[in-house]
Amino acid sequence: MRSLILTGVAICNVLVACAQQSTDPLHPFDYTIEKDITVQHGAVVSAHPLASRAGALILQQGGNAVDAAIATQLALAVVYPGAGNIGGGGFLVAHLKNGRNIAIDYRESAPAKASRDMYLDSAGNAITRLSLDGHLAAGIPGTVAGLFASMKYARLPFSKLIDPAIRLAEKGFVITEQEAKGLNASREDFLRLNTVKTAFVKEQPWKAGDTLIQPQLAKTLKLIRSKGAAGFYEGETARSIVAEMQRGKGIITLADLKNYKAKERQALTFPYKGYTILTMPLPSSGGICLQQMMGMIAKYPIAQWGFQSPQAMQLMIEVERRAYADRAQYLGDPDFVKVPAAQLTNPKYLASRMQQYVPMKAGNSDSTRAGAIKESEETTHLSVIDAEGNAVAVTTTLNGHFGSRTVAGEAGFLLNNEMDDFSVKPGVPNMYGLVGTEANAIAPGKRMLSSMTPTIVLQQQQPLFSLGTPGGSTIITSVFQTLMNVLEFGLSPAEAVNRPKFHHQWLPDVVYVEPGFPESNITELEKMGYKIVKRGPIGRTELIKRTPATRVLEAAGDTRGDDSAAGY
Ligand code: DON
Repeated sequence: MRSLILTGVAICNVLVACAQQSTDPLHPFDYTIEKDITVQHGAVVSAHPLASRAGALILQQGGNAVDAAIATQLALAVVYPGAGNIGGGGFLVAHLKNGRNIAIDYRESAPAKASRDMYLDSAGNAITRLSLDGHLAAGIPGTVAGLFASMKYARLPFSKLIDPAIRLAEKGFVITEQEAKGLNASREDFLRLNTVKTAFVKEQPWKAGDTLIQPQLAKTLKLIRSKGAAGFYEGETARSIVAEMQRGKGIITLADLKNYKAKERQALTFPYKGYTILTMPLPSSGGICLQQMMGMIAKYPIAQWGFQSPQAMQLMIEVERRAYADRAQYLGDPDFVKVPAAQLTNPKYLASRMQQYVPMKAGNSDSTRAGAIKESEETTHLSVIDAEGNAVAVTTTLNGHFGSRTVAGEAGFLLNNEMDDFSVKPGVPNMYGLVGTEANAIAPGKRMLSSMTPTIVLQQQQPLFSLGTPGGSTIITSVFQTLMNVLEFGLSPAEAVNRPKFHHQWLPDVVYVEPGFPESNITELEKMGYKIVKRGPIGRTELIKRTPATRVLEAAGDTRGDDSAAGY
């Protein structure tokens, strides 16, 4: 077990509350980061130790994996404001012990006043900052509706699940060095993009061990506790959001909020070499792309080639190129556009996509475009598996780090900048370099295409893995690589999560590699003709493995962040 102690002299010096060294598992001033745990009953892994602990505590109190996922999301909205949220949206995928598979879509949607060309100037050029910064960048938040849609599968009362979040918002918690850096880096944006004073800015720069208290957020959470989803989509909170919109030239109205609905979708499942992969359908592109990539790769002896062998890397890059080309051309909100999903995932079509594939030689995105079909960075992931065999994977997002950086006035929470996930103009890349077409153009009420890929692997109808990650366009390839790492290359959960990753997304036609990616692999890829671009860390993957025979759980939190596992 690897753990990183956050308490101690440095933090205690600045905290009066340190006097009360406590056995309280949710002690907001005294917590450790656990990277890799093995437990017998239930496990939670998320981007923040306090959020994982909030979920694990709920499991110990008799809640199931869905209860724990709800409590963890709410806690993340407080302790991980860069991505945890009530002002954003997300997807939940679950496998219930009765065999049922669930997919809940609480993706943000475009306001009624949104229009196709709303981010273009009079000459028709994209003004991309408008879909990224401030009020106009926000889609209608979906998270709170999603939490209440999930309650159908929960066991404990909502008031119990939201209590840890309220306590952490009201009393505060100590922040880590990563959080301090993140808040300091966004300071100018917070000042520029807000009309009210926010909890995220203080006079002196933030440092590890400082306490972040969010009284306005606590008040909003209490309204949600007492009034349910209406505590967010109607009344005082809705009025705060709309008043903020009016102060900042935003377009979300009271009617937009009242009309927002989470949608239960049919979970996407497909077989892979005896396993069943359970993942998110549209409006996430993640599930379809994953099915395409795993479908294209299945006939090759990739396990035999070995982890990050030149053959394996090259094949993975080439299937990534093809899936992302199709993503750009065909995928969008299925309630608004006709997506040829069945053809895109048809084995014959996938085989035809590999006809031009040349082993050990770089392909090229000019000649490899979307296939012909006959008919017409901030997000966060959490995984939970409980003692009863329920498994949940949830990815939620504000889109960019701290979303639009605009707080919903007195309601005290950050609004997303998800509108940038639409294609603001065909061919104009979004903040992740992704391009799109009419399929993902803006329309009132439409959900913007996502890459979030919460995924569960089943073996004989029992959960074997629950996983997912943030990372914008790299989400799908990270989930794909992590799955290959465990299913084909036999890596342990911690290794599968932490070994350096690579990424290709069709355009730009380059292979991105993250810090620590072996130089020898780079040389191999360059020899085959690939252009390599070194970039920052890719994703923050969370993974739980459950060995069906023993039911032992191993949970791995990504070492790229403060990610932490908890369980019992
Ligand atoms: O839904 C999507 O695909 C993006 N909004 C996800 C953004 C993200 O992962 C940022 N994290 N680093």
